[in-house]
Amino acid sequence: AYPKRVKVVEVGPRDGLQNEKNVVPTPVKINLINMLSETGLQVIEATSFVSPKWVPQMADHTEVMQGINKLPGISYPVLTPNLKGFQAAVAAGAKEVSIFGAASERFTQKNINCSIEESLERFEEVMKAAREANIPVRGYVSCVLGCPYEGKISPAKVAEVSKKMYSMGCYEISLGDTIGVGTPGSMREMLAVVMKEVPVGALAVHCHDTYGQALANILVALQMGVSVVDASVAGLGGCPYAQGASGNVATEDLVYMLNGLGIHTGVDLQKLVDTGTFICNALNRKTNSKVSQASCRL
Ligand code: HMG
Ligand code: MG
Repeated sequence: AYPKRVKVVEVGPRDGLQNEKNVVPTPVKINLINMLSETGLQVIEATSFVSPKWVPQMADHTEVMQGINKLPGISYPVLTPNLKGFQAAVAAGAKEVSIFGAASERFTQKNINCSIEESLERFEEVMKAAREANIPVRGYVSCVLGCPYEGKISPAKVAEVSKKMYSMGCYEISLGDTIGVGTPGSMREMLAVVMKEVPVGALAVHCHDTYGQALANILVALQMGVSVVDASVAGLGGCPYAQGASGNVATEDLVYMLNGLGIHTGVDLQKLVDTGTFICNALNRKTNSKVSQASCRL
């Protein structure tokens, strides 16, 4: 049985834009987020408070956080890898943050320059500060279905890292197929193991579409009871530390599929398509959303 409703977590302004080579003007980012806010989405990941030396595209995080219209009922989480990022995020007005780890030792090293063990220590510091400030924290686990440096990742390792981050107090664990190599088979196998350690109600899936499997993988996750799905408008994105990985599943395509299943999202598909058109025009690129490309309408 499918969930009756699904919470769509829009990650385009962060996961989508972080991989753009040319610096996207801050007003374009602000416009994108403001347009997304009008679509009915409940969660829009706005930016990340990471080192500008590592990801120059996100250097305008404070201006973005302060420039957007924060509508009531919508949350605008931001990525914070450490205490320094957390403090800057809170100072900029963030009311929710995400910490991001991985089930792969080598990816963790490339992405946040430390071991998994050290990353968990840093996250503990963020969790403590967040508890004191009453700020909810989401946890990402990357490379859950494969790693660009290590290849196969065992579901047991994913379950171990997920359990640790959940036990620390993350209210939700987003399982990232960072390089989009998963299939419905590997997704099912991994989720079955992780669900023994983290309640399915606290799990989200975060699928990149490199191998064209994202919607199929999401469908399997829905069948297993997952009801939170990350997506990126126009299918923007990739990860700067995972070469060749393409963007997340396009939010338009996800919402189209959920509509077809009769699953409620609260998202207006046409407004989403218009937002995708806006950002693709601004970036001078073609959309990765099949729904936006389609010209035959029902
Ligand atoms: P580091 O170089 O090891 O940090 O980077 P450090 O603590 O040694 O400090 C070095 C310098 O960075 C210092 O400045 C710090 O102040 C500064 P200096 O003294 O040299 O002038 N610094 C910071 N500046 C701004 N904000 C901060 C911050 N922290 C330290 N928060 C660090 C470690 C984690 C900072 C770095 O590796 C980093 O920023 N990494 C971010 C990488 C990233 O953003 N990756 C993409 C997001 S993850 C992803 O896309 C996957 C996901 O979508 C899920 C999926 O698909 O699987 C989430
Ligand atoms: Mg991602």
